[in-house]
Amino acid sequence: MTIQSVGVIGAGQMGAGIAQVCAQSGYEVKLFDQSPDAVRAALGRIERGLNRLVEKEAISDADAKAALGRLSAADAVTGLADCDLVIEAATENEAVKNAIFKSVCEHLKPDALLASNTSSISITRLAAATDRPGKFIGLHFMNPVPVMKLVEIIRGIATEPETYATAVAFAQSLGKVTANAEDFPAFIVNRVLIPMINEAVYTLYEGVGTVEAIDTGMKLGTNHPMGPLELADFIGLDTVLAIMNVLYDGLADSKYRPCPLLVKYVEAGWYGRKTGRGFYDYRGEKPVPTR
Ligand code: CAA
Ligand code: NAD
Repeated sequence: MTIQSVGVIGAGQMGAGIAQVCAQSGYEVKLFDQSPDAVRAALGRIERGLNRLVEKEAISDADAKAALGRLSAADAVTGLADCDLVIEAATENEAVKNAIFKSVCEHLKPDALLASNTSSISITRLAAATDRPGKFIGLHFMNPVPVMKLVEIIRGIATEPETYATAVAFAQSLGKVTANAEDFPAFIVNRVLIPMINEAVYTLYEGVGTVEAIDTGMKLGTNHPMGPLELADFIGLDTVLAIMNVLYDGLADSKYRPCPLLVKYVEAGWYGRKTGRGFYDYRGEKPVPTR
């Protein structure tokens, strides 16, 4: 099946990035969020991102304008009715995602594909709650989407071979490299990455090191581009905690217990960069560690 138009639900950091790369790759894109402010902010960020690429001579001014021309806001999920593929990139919460699929499916064409950008939740279970488990797949983009090469592809138990083939071709058409993961909690990348981040939070919680020492240690000691606490703030601490909880519940192993300090930051609403404060405070000129 051919994809020409893409709907993106959730206009946070991931939804905005996915919408941008789809529009740059020639797809007509409709972006929806329950918050109209989030859509407006995302369209502004995408425009600034494209302008930066023009300044760096990575793309031409005409290409940037054409990409923006292919991108529009949808005021309601009904605005996605004609899309060939809908990618859900809303908050990492199973009830939220199920409610979104329930509201959108009734408006879609019967052969439209549905994908979730979930970081951890069972694709089989999300798919089973929709009217089209065979046409449902996990398309897990990495943050920041315009920069990161990988898309992890996760098939649910009912995903049809044609859905999988279309999803792989679609991800490749965005210039991405795909890796297949089986449908187990948090798939591959987050099964490895997020417990490492959680361990960094334990290292802080137990006083083994300060925020600065832990991030410097991992950046300069293991050549990671960001330290684990900086990366946690970048991902969003709410998302990191949600993924740890999926691992803990789904694998029923105490080694995945979320660090109480991570829980405390989330309870405070300190989600990291997106709320201005997490393991660092971003409200001033430069990030300042909060511990
Ligand atoms: N959007 C678009 N482009 C961006 C960007 C963004 N948000 N942030 C940076 N860039 C671009 C810059 O424009 C720059 O491009 P050029 O090389 O063409 O000039 C390039 O990325 C490098 O940026 P900077 O020099 O400003 O900054 P940097 O060298 O510090 O790199 C980074 C920034 C790419 C984010 C780097 O720090 C990095 O790779 N960090 C780790 C990212 C990572 O691990 N992501 C995965 C998170 S886990 C995940 O996504 C899965 C999940 O489910 C949680
Ligand atoms: P975010 O908090 O930046 O954005 C989430 C957006 O979803 C918000 O704009 C919110 O208004 C919207 N939303 C919430 N409920 C909604 C609803 N019912 N209908 C429509 N929109 C709704 O989160 P994010 O970091 O962009 O993450 C989005 C998804 O992508 C999550 O499933 C997350 O696990 C996954 N993901 C995140 C990362 C990352 O590094 N942050 C990487 C890969 C995948």
